[in-house]
Amino acid sequence: MPVIRSIVAANWKMHKTAADTAAFFDAFLPLSASLPPEIEIVVAPPFTAIAEASKRLRGTRILLGAQTMHWDLEGPFTGEVSAPMLLEFRVSHVILGHSERRAACDETDRTVNLKVRTALAQGLTPIVAVGESGNERSAGRTDDRVVAQTRAAFAGVPAAELARVTIAYEPIWAIGTGRNCDPEEADRVMATIRGSLDGLDETPILYGGSMKPENVAAYMAKPNVNGGLVGGASLDPTGFAMLIANAAR
Ligand code: 13P
Repeated sequence: MPVIRSIVAANWKMHKTAADTAAFFDAFLPLSASLPPEIEIVVAPPFTAIAEASKRLRGTRILLGAQTMHWDLEGPFTGEVSAPMLLEFRVSHVILGHSERRAACDETDRTVNLKVRTALAQGLTPIVAVGESGNERSAGRTDDRVVAQTRAAFAGVPAAELARVTIAYEPIWAIGTGRNCDPEEADRVMATIRGSLDGLDETPILYGGSMKPENVAAYMAKPNVNGGLVGGASLDPTGFAMLIANAAR
């Protein structure tokens, strides 16, 4: 079994202005110095706070993420942001295919795949989110759904490149609801995701969906869980630091 690095990534969604971001890092950076070095920390603020976050994170161990991007490098795409625009601010990770964007912003398996290929070609690490709805789970379609999303996201990507990507298993019914997926069941689905394509043996797979400081250790104890993609519990600097500390125990 290869040793896969552990990652805790914050997805701030549409929370925090640039001023809020500065205040977050004022509190979080002093705490981060004593956090376990073996956990890779990524923070993905909204686009308007990326410049402020980039300034604050210079010279720290914390990596900067974006929450989406376009697949083209430039062009007539009003409102969109490209990989070169992110790279200018030393963004290293980009979340792609989040269920909120699949549901509300027309993100599809096809566009996720285009974005994944661009991210890899540009040297960004895609964090690809997959997960089933409550109805799909009730209908027994969880495994089919995540396998189909995973295969579609990485279609045409050589197996050797897949060690460079990160996947997040985010059951939609667990996002923002306080109803986290049972760690045993999350681990089972994550093993299914890992087995869905050749080349995923060394790919970090994160759990997302109501992850908290109180439940993170139960996930990290599972063999197929390599970290978390955290929404609500990443917004408070003290709570987020506690979550990362608990992830290492
Ligand atoms: P919550 O942690 O708020 O449930 O959100 C999870 C998520 O969607 C992270 O991308």
